[in-house]
Amino acid sequence: MRPAPDPATASASAGNPYRLPRTVEPVTYRLVIAPDLERATFEGTVDIDVTVHDQVDEIVLNAAELTVRSVTVLPPAGDPVTPGVDLDEKAERLSLRLPAPLAKGDATVSLTFSGVLNDRLRGFYRSTFTDPEGRARTIATTQFESTDARRAFPCWDEPDRKATFEVTLVVDEGLLAVSNAPVAEESAGGRSGDSGGRSGDSGGGAGPKRRVRFAPTMKMSTYLVAFVVGPLEVTPPVDAGGIPVRVVHTPGKGHLTAYALDVAEHALAFFTEYFGIPYPGEKLDLVAIPDFAQGAMENLGCVTFRETTLLVDPAAASRVELERIADVVHHEIAHMWFGDLVTMEWWEGIWLNEAFATFMELLATDHYRPAWHRWTTFGIERDMALAVDGLHATRPIEYPVGPPEEAEGMFDLLTYEKGASVLRMLEQYLGAEAFRDGVRHYLDSHAYGNTVTGDLWKALEEVSGEPVRAVAESWILQGGHPLIRVDGETVTQEPFAYLPEPRHGSSAIGRQWLVPLLVRRIGAGGGTSGADPASAPDREPSGAQSQRALLGDGPLSLGGGGTGIPLANAGGWGAYRVAYTGAQLESLAGLLGELGPLERFDLFSDTWALVLSGRLELGALLGLANGLEDEDEPGVYRVVTGALDLAERIAGPDLRPRVQAATRALLGRRLAELGWDPVPGEGERVPGLRSMLIGALGTVGKDGRVRSEAARLFDAARAGGPPVDPDLESAVLGVVADMGRDGDFEMFLDRYRHPSTPQEETRYLMALTAFPDVERCERIFELATSEARSADGFLLVRGLLANRVGGPAVWARVKEDWDALLARLPDPNQAAMVGTVRLLCADRTLAEDVERFLTEHPVHVGQRTVVQTLEQLAVHVALAERLRSNGRLAAALEHVPVG
Ligand code: BES
Ligand code: ZN
Repeated sequence: MRPAPDPATASASAGNPYRLPRTVEPVTYRLVIAPDLERATFEGTVDIDVTVHDQVDEIVLNAAELTVRSVTVLPPAGDPVTPGVDLDEKAERLSLRLPAPLAKGDATVSLTFSGVLNDRLRGFYRSTFTDPEGRARTIATTQFESTDARRAFPCWDEPDRKATFEVTLVVDEGLLAVSNAPVAEESAGGRSGDSGGRSGDSGGGAGPKRRVRFAPTMKMSTYLVAFVVGPLEVTPPVDAGGIPVRVVHTPGKGHLTAYALDVAEHALAFFTEYFGIPYPGEKLDLVAIPDFAQGAMENLGCVTFRETTLLVDPAAASRVELERIADVVHHEIAHMWFGDLVTMEWWEGIWLNEAFATFMELLATDHYRPAWHRWTTFGIERDMALAVDGLHATRPIEYPVGPPEEAEGMFDLLTYEKGASVLRMLEQYLGAEAFRDGVRHYLDSHAYGNTVTGDLWKALEEVSGEPVRAVAESWILQGGHPLIRVDGETVTQEPFAYLPEPRHGSSAIGRQWLVPLLVRRIGAGGGTSGADPASAPDREPSGAQSQRALLGDGPLSLGGGGTGIPLANAGGWGAYRVAYTGAQLESLAGLLGELGPLERFDLFSDTWALVLSGRLELGALLGLANGLEDEDEPGVYRVVTGALDLAERIAGPDLRPRVQAATRALLGRRLAELGWDPVPGEGERVPGLRSMLIGALGTVGKDGRVRSEAARLFDAARAGGPPVDPDLESAVLGVVADMGRDGDFEMFLDRYRHPSTPQEETRYLMALTAFPDVERCERIFELATSEARSADGFLLVRGLLANRVGGPAVWARVKEDWDALLARLPDPNQAAMVGTVRLLCADRTLAEDVERFLTEHPVHVGQRTVVQTLEQLAVHVALAERLRSNGRLAAALEHVPVG
């Protein structure tokens, strides 16, 4: 265990005005909370045992939106004293002015307080649902990350003030209560605390009360504390290597829990082995909360989830939906070690917490279902991160964080996906075993403690002997990523940017990186897989036959030793783009069969990035796509369909039919070969590919046959025939919505209102945004601020802004209702709500209006993400202008012969 920080030399926190003084530190919290679900209030008491490092006349801790009723301090010696209390709501701090200086030693601070169960999905809040009998019910639940524990109880709400927590919940008889630790004792009784508080009726309703006392937690941060109270059900525990695992859910959903339990069991076994450290809790509850802003939250032993990321009927779910749940469950359980056991010292470390959990999630999901090829599909997510990172408005993955609110804007693609890509790149460069040993060493050295990012690099250097810190810091301390140019046998790097110049201020894109390269020869003859596309490897070739190099400032000569084209990102794990010469690219297009799936994906996504940045013509990508033979990698088609979608939005009425025809020509044959029905043994990824092709052909391509088949399947299911294949349902609903037939809209609305699974609810919710009709778009827009759960509002707005027909009208409504949207939608979802305005690029005046409005009306959290969205919009506007000049779109379409 790491020694407690010396207050005199308190590391990074010294001099940071946003940090609490370190003179008094918490050791143990004994917390009693009595929520009144009917009145949406709570009462609490907390006794905090503290260590006084230095004589003080004031104790400063955090509190917000609480009414503090009484405070006493029991000094190391003598009688309790009553301090003066100042609550600074703006600073979210409580100052306790002591009548006489408090001496060094152990003391206890006791407070009684009360608060409101808010509807903002943060702190201690209220979630509601309708039970199977049709009654409206209420849950009281918590979400504390980053700094909202202080909204539930006064505390030292900083990640390195680790302490143990002994939680007691006073609840109505008949309600379930869960927290981080197992129940230690239950008893009848109604007082909210021992030191004051109201008696008997403090829990609201007149009925009898239960006191549920939980065992003390391990030493941990405040942001990981959780408690949930409500009319909930719980599955019998599954024994996962000695750890009881349960799912907590609203009544009637027990049949949707088996899958998550299975993943959780896998997760505990996988991580225990990978980290070489036992699970740090005593039990593990996975709790599905009807109203939840994030995807899930890693509270130690009491992980909370959105219903869609936990509860599922595998027989009625798509592969993509199952994969998402496996990812989320693995991700949060990975945090039990990386984040909960070992925690960042301050919020700038949040990127490592999240990037690492994402990396482990991928590793674990890949192990859980190897046939999903999770590392290959991660290419799509990495590409989305690089699409942000190539903007001048990007940011370094890690930067100094002053006020904690600054960290709230860090939960983005750069933290999660770019961060995980950099870790994957390091892992592949160091070797999986060396990397794992370094991680074990890191966790082992810092268990129950706090770290800075450099501690991980140090551990990795110690076990690998490689210059890990220098390489890693070139990727995390500056924004952007390089474009690797391959010209003959020479490799160089330059910064990659979509736009030549920053539009405002300076660029956050760095100058130079230490680039780990693996180079493999393509088209040299005698390759392991040959050039027959039908035998294209379905996994990446191993790095063993590759040349390994670290590219720095000068050009790197590959030595001319080999023949064939040097593939500069062999294996496909580099967090950078690669550009080949025109001749090399043309040769590569004929040698796709020699590339692994992630390598093919990279070739396509890099080509598209080069088109978006004006370095290549759209025809280069369409030409590559036209050469696709038996491609089964959904990601490759995803790049192509994305490009066609944008081209279709940009094309005027004259060229639109040609983009549609090109879409049919590029995608139609592959769908015809795959067919609509699953074929036994076709592989786990084919259904995803099939549904992507159906979606693109039926909407962008306006393919008559695909549209009528989608309608036929949908109508048959509606008439009581076989249900639509879950893998196809989202695509089929999207196509049917796009057809805009009478009657479908009301029916979709009804299914959204009465779904049989959380996934079905989301499928219909998204499909409701796809009707090509302004009036219907406006009706759905209304739901975002009324009937829809506030946590789903951003999905509606996002979907509607992407609607080809209704998008501009919805934008006008977004502006009108902006204040209402910001008031209703949880802060963490607001930037995502407007993410799709980047598609409003066809009309320059509209794009300018979007830019002006979103600059003048910042969201509460994540305005940097909004600024990035606006730069993406500018990239798209520039593409639109290029494609419209000199018949360049028409010329690009020439690359696709239409039948
Ligand atoms: N720690 C986060 C949840 C979180 C995010 C809390 C933002 C506060 C602010 C959690 O571990 C997480 O990363 N959740 C993801 C899902 C995950 C599978 C990527 C989320 O909520 O999107
Ligand atoms: Zn996370």
